[in-house]
Amino acid sequence: MWNNITSCSLWRLSPSFMASRIQTLTPLFIRNYKDFCKNRQTIWTLRNSLCQVMKKTVPTLKCNMFPHCFLSNKARYGQYTKTFPVLDGSIPSVCEHVFEKNLRNSESCIQSFVFEIRYSELLCKVSKGGGENAILRHTQRNKKLLVRERLRMLLDDETFLELSPFAGFDLPYGDVPAAGCLTGIGKICGVWCVFMANDATVKGGTIYPISVKKQLRAQQIAVQNRLLSVYLVDSGGAFLPLQAELFPDQSHGGRIFYNEAIMSAMKIPQVAVVCGSCTAGGAYVPTMADETVIVDKIGSMFLAGPPLVKAATGEDISPEDLGGASMHSKVSGCVDHFASSEKEAYECVRNIILTLNYELPPEETLEYDDPLYSAEELLGLAPRGYSYTLHIKLILSRLIDGSRFQEFKAEYGTTLVTGFAHMEGHLVGIVANNGELTHDASLKGSHFVQLCSQRSIPILFLQNTAPHAPEPTSLSQCGRSFDPNFLFLWPNARVALVDSRHISTFPQARDDDCTGDDSELKHLKEKLEEESSAFHSSARLWDDGIIRPQNSRKVIAQCLTIMKQQKYQIASLQHYPVIRL
Ligand code: COA
Repeated sequence: MWNNITSCSLWRLSPSFMASRIQTLTPLFIRNYKDFCKNRQTIWTLRNSLCQVMKKTVPTLKCNMFPHCFLSNKARYGQYTKTFPVLDGSIPSVCEHVFEKNLRNSESCIQSFVFEIRYSELLCKVSKGGGENAILRHTQRNKKLLVRERLRMLLDDETFLELSPFAGFDLPYGDVPAAGCLTGIGKICGVWCVFMANDATVKGGTIYPISVKKQLRAQQIAVQNRLLSVYLVDSGGAFLPLQAELFPDQSHGGRIFYNEAIMSAMKIPQVAVVCGSCTAGGAYVPTMADETVIVDKIGSMFLAGPPLVKAATGEDISPEDLGGASMHSKVSGCVDHFASSEKEAYECVRNIILTLNYELPPEETLEYDDPLYSAEELLGLAPRGYSYTLHIKLILSRLIDGSRFQEFKAEYGTTLVTGFAHMEGHLVGIVANNGELTHDASLKGSHFVQLCSQRSIPILFLQNTAPHAPEPTSLSQCGRSFDPNFLFLWPNARVALVDSRHISTFPQARDDDCTGDDSELKHLKEKLEEESSAFHSSARLWDDGIIRPQNSRKVIAQCLTIMKQQKYQIASLQHYPVIRL
């Protein structure tokens, strides 16, 4: 996989995973077989010594916790952090033409993609869900609030981090705006929570394969960052034409329900609101939650709705009698709280959150300096290709507090830049590509990752891994398979095993039906280009969303704040979930 600047992923290391991570991380820095042979010995030495260290330290370390010195680093070291050296982020005049070309490319990436839809227009399209008719049906006939209005009532404010809003576009089975389900991280009563909210304007909130994937990813984020989960359920269950692709397999729909039980056992609370007609798969989510609220006249739950009951038994029954709010709160006991309106339901959820016994400290106001250089200039630094890559420190100087960077091994393995900096007051280790991954750069990266692990400092990877013609590279560093806590792309990012410009040099690219003439190669090249775009990736949830370069600092700092919350949760010795009786 190669990323044409820049995807960034955040990775907070938990000691229990470090040994295996280092073992697998190191080869990623290796560009070819020659390097691999040189590195193999180092990898195993490193791995073995690390395993020894782990054996001794794991019992005394608290997994998934930041040490006290990190959380209060401002108080302890506040006056000293300003001594990190300042980066010179001025753009050399000889590079101005490269900057201008990158700028034009970034603007065109934001303004257009394969279907000439502007980035902001795409966001607008996402916000309209299933379209005007569906919105009218949802609000006027069904008297329900739109999903974003629901979130406005539920969350403390609108500064939530929305995850993968472009998921679901241009899939083989058509467009599914936002995958029919909004996911993200927002605050409820001061507590960061993952929310998963069906958008019933998209085919009645039914679940497509991409909706399953999106919810599973949100749950994974909840587990990794120990964030309680709130489900706003308004779903007709499986999207039946695609049922075979979303029901039977291990990572299909059932996994969402399974995860709820697993998270409950991990003491990650699961709270649900039934705020629409929830059939079949839609009914499992609230019934597997720890605590559930239902909205009168709006919420209902059944495995099979009235039409199926009629077909099966001949009985005429109304949705209210079959599985409405009164029935489930008074008779079946499947829900725990009856709310007479949606507003009351979200207030009830807020009250539930207040019973979780979290002891959050008063909001920490970190003091920090802004970068010395304008974030707008990042548009001219996000390269349109490898020949347009400028020094990574120009990017760093526009992301980090006061443009101050404590570089590690500055003179060694210079194609990888490593060092410490602050992001809105949060200490972070940075691993950033600055050219080809060489043997020396790989050793340096491995050493630096261990320092961060030992000091429990989260790592920010800035990826720009060049493909080496004519061979494909191995993999990029800390991609999806390495479970980073978060992974975002810039709009100019490209994700592929090979550079489409080198396609003609790959005999493997020609399949049996391909005669190898110019038109077929051209077609293959176009396909590769389209498939490597950031939008193609985000539509399939290979990342957690596309962010504008200018917003990167804000998003990264928000993620770092979210990751800190787990310190305040009750330590868990319990290994069983809340069981509904
Ligand atoms: N699979 C595929 N499409 C579905 C669907 C399903 N399970 N349920 C609803 N839809 C589609 C409808 O065909 C309609 O499509 P359209 O806009 O292209 O006409 C759209 O979703 C909205 O459905 P509609 O019934 O018009 O809206 P509504 O708000 O009155 O009701 C539901 C929504 C989901 C409550 C209702 O459609 C329903 O009960 N569906 C059946 C659910 C079911 O039996 N699921 C079993 C899954 S195993």
